[in-house]
Amino acid sequence: MSGTEAIVTVFRGPHQPDTEIAAKLQALETLLSEAAKEFADLRLASSLAAEDNVLFDVVQRLGLNIKTFTLETGRLNAETLAVLPALQARYGKAPEAVKPVAAAVEQYVNAHGADAFYESIDLRKACCDVRKVEPLNRALRGAQAWITGQRRAQAATRKELPVRENDDARGITKFNPLSDWSEADIWTYIRRFDVPVNALHFQGYPSIGCEPCTRAVTLGEDIRAGRWWWEDPANKECGLHAGNINRASSLQSPLKSA
Ligand code: ADX
Ligand code: SF4
Repeated sequence: MSGTEAIVTVFRGPHQPDTEIAAKLQALETLLSEAAKEFADLRLASSLAAEDNVLFDVVQRLGLNIKTFTLETGRLNAETLAVLPALQARYGKAPEAVKPVAAAVEQYVNAHGADAFYESIDLRKACCDVRKVEPLNRALRGAQAWITGQRRAQAATRKELPVRENDDARGITKFNPLSDWSEADIWTYIRRFDVPVNALHFQGYPSIGCEPCTRAVTLGEDIRAGRWWWEDPANKECGLHAGNINRASSLQSPLKSA
């Protein structure tokens, strides 16, 4: 093992030194408070991973009128599901679990098999459509704006992620308030405010999705390398954030967006 790899190991995930987050924290609290005033119906999408638990903590600490939901796909890890009662115990409330339509899941499984997402990108996207995208659209029905825990440093598709954007697919505003936060900033916040965390973060999972589509990452790998690891990193978004792919491809090829 080289010296550089050893540093990556030590500084990956929860085991990172504190960073100075005072200015970012102030900006985050201001942004969420003002967004809650601007939009009467503002919702937070939580995957129950570290970033979203930070946002949930801010919302509860400041008493903001922001409803939180999690897309309970039916394929989440037990460790991820265990975050819900942990949040309930800590804050007296937890994100609302939104499930896929049972008949649509059954149709997919009968037609292709429960794990057909390994076979092709189309079948992977079809599974995400049934288990995540349709439930997201339902969870956001009637909302004026929504909030995600995405960060720029997470992926090739997120390098240009703005703090505020238009969600063209749904015709509402979308906030990514942690856009410029580093992974170390997130863990600094979690330690400072004693936020409940998903146990998978301590087992080499910096990014967490459905159980069969997520694995731990190894030395030197990208934060999202464990997500749909068999696919091209330039296109790895599941439809929740299709705008990221559109933005990334229009930046690479300006003529395409004309
Ligand atoms: S994604 O590819 O699964 O969309 P990632 O896990 O990096 O990406 O999550 C990015 C953001 O999407 C999260 O911070 C959260 O706002 C939203 N999100 C992802 N998965 C879920 C989920 N299961 N339920 C609710 N929101 C989610
Ligand atoms: Fe299906 Fe995997 Fe997408 Fe989850 S992440 S909805 S299991 S393809």
